Amino acid sequence: MCGIVGYLGKRDAVEVVLDALKRLEYRGYDSAGIGVISNGKLKVVKTKGKIRDLATVVKEHDFKSNIAIGHTRWATHGKPTDVNAHPHVCEGIAVVHNGIIENYMELKEFLVNKGYSFESQTDTEVIAALIKDNYEGSLFEAVINACKNLVGSFAIAVICEMEPDVIVGYRKESPLVLGVGDSEYFLASDIPALLPYTNKIVPLEDGDCLLITREGFTISNNGDLVNRDIMTISWSPVLAEKTGYKHFMQKEIFEQPRAVADTIHGIYSFDENRFYLVESEFEERLKGVNRIVAVACGTSYHACLVGRYWLERYALLPVEVDIASEFRYRDIFIDDKTLAIFVSQSGETADTLAALKMSKKRGALTLAICNVMGSSIAREAHDVIYTHAGPEIGVASTKAFTTQMAVLYAFSLYLGSLKGHLNNKDVSSRFTELMKTPRLIEEALELDKKLLELALKYLDKKDFLYLGRYLSYPIALEGALKLKEISYIHAEGYPAGEMKHGPIALIDKEMPVVVVAPVDRVYEKVKGNIEEVKARDGIVIAFTSEGSEEISKKCDHTFYLPKTYEDLSPFVYVVPLQLFAYHVAERKGLDVDQPRNLAKAVTVE
Ligand code: AGP
Repeated sequence: MCGIVGYLGKRDAVEVVLDALKRLEYRGYDSAGIGVISNGKLKVVKTKGKIRDLATVVKEHDFKSNIAIGHTRWATHGKPTDVNAHPHVCEGIAVVHNGIIENYMELKEFLVNKGYSFESQTDTEVIAALIKDNYEGSLFEAVINACKNLVGSFAIAVICEMEPDVIVGYRKESPLVLGVGDSEYFLASDIPALLPYTNKIVPLEDGDCLLITREGFTISNNGDLVNRDIMTISWSPVLAEKTGYKHFMQKEIFEQPRAVADTIHGIYSFDENRFYLVESEFEERLKGVNRIVAVACGTSYHACLVGRYWLERYALLPVEVDIASEFRYRDIFIDDKTLAIFVSQSGETADTLAALKMSKKRGALTLAICNVMGSSIAREAHDVIYTHAGPEIGVASTKAFTTQMAVLYAFSLYLGSLKGHLNNKDVSSRFTELMKTPRLIEEALELDKKLLELALKYLDKKDFLYLGRYLSYPIALEGALKLKEISYIHAEGYPAGEMKHGPIALIDKEMPVVVVAPVDRVYEKVKGNIEEVKARDGIVIAFTSEGSEEISKKCDHTFYLPKTYEDLSPFVYVVPLQLFAYHVAERKGLDVDQPRNLAKAVTVE
């Protein structure tokens, strides 16, 4: 997914933009570029490859400028080449863009007929020409008028040599945030890019057109000037750095105890027996809710699958969980008694946002669970509960997952209490158990070295099967997703009880089978599944509770995890699966933080 940045202020703009682009690398890209106004002239340098390649070329030019825009490109239209890299230019106007313009071909034809010529295969070059075609002395007005003709999702930053002290930004669906410094302004696709310079952030909303000048900034939307709140972000730059770990993913796995602790801190008051999760108006509407749907993608979807068990048990409501890209096209029954929960780390996943808008339009009460303040999904829902995981940079989601589960567990207790099914004693005893999870995760992290050894033993395998039942079934899915997305080894998560309905045919002496087997209500059944695997010479790698030694006689490898309250085993059992996937990918020398073909936030459909 592309990343855009912009800077206007007193610093060396090239240095700021190249540094900010480096903080967007985790989003995945194949080329990069920068545009500056130097000595009154627009200069653009862009290259296929990494930002270090761009920096090498830029240094040869020795630009002196304090206005610049930059871009990392994840190719949608047109292959990764120098020509297709951004910024794209038309007669002194330069544009960088994140998103997809669906009607660019018809616009291109219109512009060619007006005499414009194009050298790239991109939709972004069409935007540049359209802005030029609308330019009558004000870049701000030209961008507003040009964007009226664009269909699709886009976040753009624009500079031009006719107005050397102006940056214009526009946002429709693709994220764009303004950073406010001391007489200096930053634009970026997301917050970590700006953190070293400012923590004063203004998330732009759909339809916002932003004008930045040396005197300040103004935002218009649909022709009206609007005020947007300046948010102070608590993330420190160091949180967005690796702080000694080899990869962001490794750091974020080990940050989970703090992330979960930060997330549950302050959401329940034992003295008052009350939760601080949602606004009072939202709470009123919650009382009338008679069913729940939970919708997300990827790892966030797995968090919803875990949350379903808790919501069913404590809120005593029917709960349906679906993948956003499927949910949004269903003729599912939704009314004003439906609570629709949307879980998203980035808060920008296109399918989840679309599903949210569909549900809202049909009258559902919508709740977002997000990790990024002010993100699109957070702002679109009727209310939002933030996880406090801090910036998650690694594409493979880890601490976001455990913090999402923490919110879902707390919300389940809250809803159960609101509905009168849980009394104060029930709630405080279970919330006390939740407060133990950071320490339990710490203990699970102590298996790290043993999981490195396991990874060294099996990293050449071609297929893995992950099995679990009940609360451990979504954990099996999540473990398989972690392995496949960063090590590129095929791995499949499956309900253990489904083995004999097909997957058992896959088992042979080459097939490692990871079994998530805490001692819980289905433990005896899972032991039976282990027998079935062993009877077919499968390799069994089991994760079970401390003290249940008998299982080790049946398994090739057995790892013991701290005993937990039955409900809370997912927090502990996902950790070794994250570590195992990390070590396999790291030992294979793969790009753990930026796996091939993947983006941190899938903001295009
Ligand atoms: C998980 O490791 C992946 N990076 C991916 O499945 C991710 O969880 C999914 O794209 C959803 O992202 P979101 O939570 O930002 O909406």
